[in-house]
Amino acid sequence: MDKEKKVKSDEYIISDSIQETMIGPLWSRATLSKKYPNLLRDPKAIDFLDQIKYDFTKLKDFLGDWRAIGLLARAYNLDNAVKNYLNAHPNATIVNIGAGLDTSFHRVDNGKIMWYDLDLPNAIEFRVRLMPETPRNKVISSSAFDIKWMESVNFDPDKGIFLIAGGLIYYFYEDKIAPFFKALAERFPGGGIAFDCVNKFAVKVANKRAKKYNSELSFKLAIGNPVKIIHKWSKKLQILDWYTMYSRVPIDPKWPKKARKMIKISERLKTAKIVILEFI
Ligand SMILES: C[S@@+](CC[C@H](N)C(=O)[O-])C[C@H]1O[C@@H](n2cnc3c(N)ncnc32)[C@H](O)[C@@H]1O
Repeated sequence: MDKEKKVKSDEYIISDSIQETMIGPLWSRATLSKKYPNLLRDPKAIDFLDQIKYDFTKLKDFLGDWRAIGLLARAYNLDNAVKNYLNAHPNATIVNIGAGLDTSFHRVDNGKIMWYDLDLPNAIEFRVRLMPETPRNKVISSSAFDIKWMESVNFDPDKGIFLIAGGLIYYFYEDKIAPFFKALAERFPGGGIAFDCVNKFAVKVANKRAKKYNSELSFKLAIGNPVKIIHKWSKKLQILDWYTMYSRVPIDPKWPKKARKMIKISERLKTAKIVILEFI
């Protein structure tokens, strides 16, 4: 795209804010899905990235190969969780919490779903500049924790509802996440949610790395064994499935050797997981 026409991210997003964390996953999906299309195809992310004016130098260094591949793996896993839900509920509503510049809708759309991308107001303003709403892909401009938004989504228990939250929950303490999940389960019986989480070791490593890059952002919530923790949040939350980040991802021998080594270590230490809950 012509440089002059690009959307400047800093008109919407403050540097080192939680909103800025949306750029890393977009960059990873756009760049690596081009390089390794076997895992994920994401032409919409490539299109979004081309429209943005942002200095990616620090981000590229911060992510390195293997963290960027991890973001691709997260998207792959969450897509599969949505697709599984849609197999049984083809007319469902999907809510992407902390959507940032995520393009999942375009990767999983079956032509019938109603999809909402929810994020903080300035993040949504930025998103909408790049991609306006469509009748089946709307936005919600709200904090996830300001739960009034739950009243504004189409919820038909016969059609079902599924939520995803990629790269979100570890930025908050448990006393914020637990009541939020409880509220979701109470408001959307029969629905479900898929999200990623990290363990104590990963929180420590991430926060050390953030400091090295002079970032004020830190990870707060660590989840080791989800079975031991999540049932305490609400009796209406049932674990349907959980697995480590790469356990269901086809590892590409073309990925850099160091990245594959880091993935092996991460799997051994169970640092990152995908959890899928049902609201009963
Ligand atoms: C790491 S990014 C992940 C973006 C997206 N899920 C993806 O995978 O591409 C985290 C996102 O959560 C959003 N976020 C942070 N706090 C939030 C809140 N209280 N309510 C809604 N969204 C929030 C940020 O603005 C950001 O877009």
